[in-house]
Amino acid sequence: MKIGIPKEIFEGETRVSIIPESAEKLSQKHGHELFIETNAGIAAGFPNSLYEKAGVKIENSIASLYEKVDIIVKVRKPKKDSNDNELNKMKANSLFLGFFWPLNNPRLAQFAADKKINIMAVDSLPRITRAQSMDALSSQTNLSGYKATIIAAQYLNKIFPLLMTAAGTITPAKILILGAGVAGLQAVATARRLGAVVEVSDVRPSVKEQVESLGGHYIEPPQNIGSGGEGKSGYANEATSEYIQKQKELLERHVANADAIITTALVPGKKAPVLITKKMIENMRAGSVIVDMAAEQGGNCEICEAGKIIEHRGVKIIGATNLAASLPYHASQLYSRNVTAILGYFTQEKGKFEISPKDEIMKSCLIVHNGEVVHKKTKELIGN
Ligand code: NAI
Repeated sequence: MKIGIPKEIFEGETRVSIIPESAEKLSQKHGHELFIETNAGIAAGFPNSLYEKAGVKIENSIASLYEKVDIIVKVRKPKKDSNDNELNKMKANSLFLGFFWPLNNPRLAQFAADKKINIMAVDSLPRITRAQSMDALSSQTNLSGYKATIIAAQYLNKIFPLLMTAAGTITPAKILILGAGVAGLQAVATARRLGAVVEVSDVRPSVKEQVESLGGHYIEPPQNIGSGGEGKSGYANEATSEYIQKQKELLERHVANADAIITTALVPGKKAPVLITKKMIENMRAGSVIVDMAAEQGGNCEICEAGKIIEHRGVKIIGATNLAASLPYHASQLYSRNVTAILGYFTQEKGKFEISPKDEIMKSCLIVHNGEVVHKKTKELIGN
């Protein structure tokens, strides 16, 4: 198959979908032919020369890249404004592989179906052992958790570790982390490596052991309120307002004592729960910092704006967005290995990628196939 790597056009996006090392694997081991838009990898630290060495053909014209290939591999979902829809450039019966967020973009899925473009969404892969090497959501979120901690350290007016000097002892910073999923656990690990004292709140009691194994202290969630906690799929249940109220009361003291807070609390498909109110921020020490990683889903802080730093009574609230793109070399490296694992898995015969709708992995992430939106939940949103 011919696989194309276009340059990402979303503002601020620096990652590239396939790096030279993976391109070589896709051509030598799996028999595919690779094409890249000129300079598509440069912002991530992968110049054309490295792709050429890996046997990738450099395309100067984006139109000719799209015309040639059977599969387009991207990081970001297709840009959809009316003049510049990337899907318009794709050939009928070709495949788009990348982030797509189908439940937020049902109309884009229908548009692809009308154009007979197949869509595989990496954000919809099942979180099963067999698909772990393909899990782009985890690989990118993991790096984001690391970066959020570095940002907290950068903006905090204190150092993280204990320091014993001739001028006296400095006590370690207290970091509070809300949500101990992939991002939160990486934030715990990073803050601990920097020497901070770390407390963690999550509604899923099953994370207690993981938090403690990383050296964090787990704050027990509210008990016997009848909601919240862990759902069947391993994700958090959406909590009732009564549960969230109890949780806020429980967190009040921890928030007031924290030097820096990193919030990552999410419930799939829902607005992020607001866990830190304006009043709670007003009880924090001036100079402390909150990095809100849920900013794009509405934020875990009452005062938060995605992509902005707000200062309220001396506390900085950072609405963190697209953190993985601030580490494009490693983010691209991991993403590229994830998509290569997907492409390799469905290439049973050299050079032949096959859409196998019955496969458990494919079933979860195949959104559009043969002119039809096949992903059940997306279909329901369209009302078919
Ligand atoms: P996520 O991004 O959906 O949520 C982040 C965290 O926020 C979760 O730990 C959730 O419990 C927590 N949260 C939700 N509401 C909260 C509240 N009110 N207060 C405090 N915390 C709250 O989760 P993510 O990172 O995508 O991981 C979710 C689950 O998926 C985890 O159990 C993880 O271990 C599992 N997973 C499994 C994988 C596999 O088997 N291949 C790969 C990656 C994750």
